[in-house]
Amino acid sequence: MSKYDNNFTDLLRERLSIVDVIGRRVPLVKKGQNYWGCCPFHNEKTPSFSVNEDKGFFHCFGCGKHGDIISFTMESEHIDFKSAISELADMAGVPLPQIKQKSDAQIAAEESYFDIVEKAQKIYAEKLFTPEGSVALEYIRGRGFSDDMIKKYGLGYAPKNNIIAGTFANTKQDKLIATGLVRRGEYGVYDFFRDKLMFPIFNAKGKIVAFSGRSLDGSEPKYINTSDTELFHKRQTLFGFNFARESIHRANRTIIVEGQIDAIQMQCNGFGETVAPLGTALTEDHLSMICKSNRNIIFCFDGDGAGQKAAVRACGLIMPFLRDNSDVRFAFVSGGKDPDEILRHGGKKDMEKIINSSVPLVDFLWNTANKNYIVQTPSGKTQATQFIKKEIDKIQDKLLKSEYEHEYENRKFNQWHKWKKTSDKIAESVPDIDIVVKNTLVYIVNKYPEMAERYGDFLNTFNLDFESDGKSDFNLDLKSAEKYIISLKLQKYIKDLKQKKQDLTAKILRGEIDESDEINRIDDELNRMKEKQDMLI
Ligand code: UTP
Ligand code: MN
Repeated sequence: MSKYDNNFTDLLRERLSIVDVIGRRVPLVKKGQNYWGCCPFHNEKTPSFSVNEDKGFFHCFGCGKHGDIISFTMESEHIDFKSAISELADMAGVPLPQIKQKSDAQIAAEESYFDIVEKAQKIYAEKLFTPEGSVALEYIRGRGFSDDMIKKYGLGYAPKNNIIAGTFANTKQDKLIATGLVRRGEYGVYDFFRDKLMFPIFNAKGKIVAFSGRSLDGSEPKYINTSDTELFHKRQTLFGFNFARESIHRANRTIIVEGQIDAIQMQCNGFGETVAPLGTALTEDHLSMICKSNRNIIFCFDGDGAGQKAAVRACGLIMPFLRDNSDVRFAFVSGGKDPDEILRHGGKKDMEKIINSSVPLVDFLWNTANKNYIVQTPSGKTQATQFIKKEIDKIQDKLLKSEYEHEYENRKFNQWHKWKKTSDKIAESVPDIDIVVKNTLVYIVNKYPEMAERYGDFLNTFNLDFESDGKSDFNLDLKSAEKYIISLKLQKYIKDLKQKKQDLTAKILRGEIDESDEINRIDDELNRMKEKQDMLI
């Protein structure tokens, strides 16, 4: 088989879960490490046909048949190799390459791509330790990188001149340009990366395919990445995946963070199973790569608006991958920090706390619906319901989907309709005033300026950005808008009261003061406010 075919079959094996492929024809049940079903290749009533998802093969203990997704497809459908590949490519959603012998010229071109990129990395790495690279070196050491880390991740410095174009002056220009390291300009070729701290990007097999360069002088953009090339597709590459594979297998989970420095610091501080997307948002391709190992994922996003948005997006993307044994969670790093900062200031322990307090997907989705829509109103309830439905409709496992449906029906009944005191709980499980609330307020003020007059002092505490257009895919009448503001105000007041009570209690316990009367007064006030909150609902 040609080299080209091998690459493509590897890609299919990487993209497709054997359980999905076989599960289309043979009902499978998970027992222990493996999935089991009745062998399609011989007659049997009790299952002796086992499928191992991690390793990607099946084995029948009855008839001894053994193989992978390709041989299964060929033999169960009585089709040839080419047809099987074509069917699997379809299923994986990847275009079928021309199955033909790769020409010698092509192989040569590919080899020189890796050669050039590898050589370039060596050049950058050396430069980092020369006077030219001193700013970059100082910078990365200042961010807690040891020399061992610099070496392991192959960090380097791309100098200000056209070092790559110069070094490879005798290489064919097209080959050089194909690596994305140089571009063609009016006066010949020039280096794409100049005066950058360089991070090599490895493919899953550990070969360097591209680079990410960080600016050192504060200029924007902060990071630039090699544009897509024949051998590098940003949407299908996860930073740190090659280093993380073994840990992902051992830890039986994957942590996904936003930035590459975060990923490196996580990997070096006890979370080897961490990866990051590259500049672009997370894609389906990224998730299908990860789900090949296991479906236990912790999304760990920055605690800012962008992080929350990214989390909602990730949640939508992961739904089709959910299985009954998936454990998908969302962790947020609060205080506008990212995992890198947490690790540097609080170490592994603080990061562990964040990971351990991550929210399961079922709760995250629920909280998101409750934050995005005004569930105190019938139309808000409807919109939230539609949002949830749209998401759980993506779940492919029928049983799992119906469990989710039940779960949310129960929550709706208990938390929206019965209300009781649970309203308080919802408000607390939602992270601090976030982008959605801000957008809603901007929308309200734009639509009903009188609200700004009436609640100006309170609204000012949010630092609203009136240049943003606010969220407008819902409708609020004046009364509901006012109710929304009042309920926010109440929430904040109750929170402050609780904090006050907690502080006082601590002082009393420490014997610093004796003001139990004051505590009683706060309790009364709290009760009154909670009644008010219930009435509002
Ligand atoms: P961040 O802006 O959160 O970067 O973007 P960071 O990791 O905290 O950067 P440092 O710590 O200041 O160095 C998260 C990720 O988004 C991509 C990069 O992959 C970055 O790691 N990104 C960011 C870009 O591709 N281009 C940019 O201009 C900014
Ligand atoms: Mn950062």
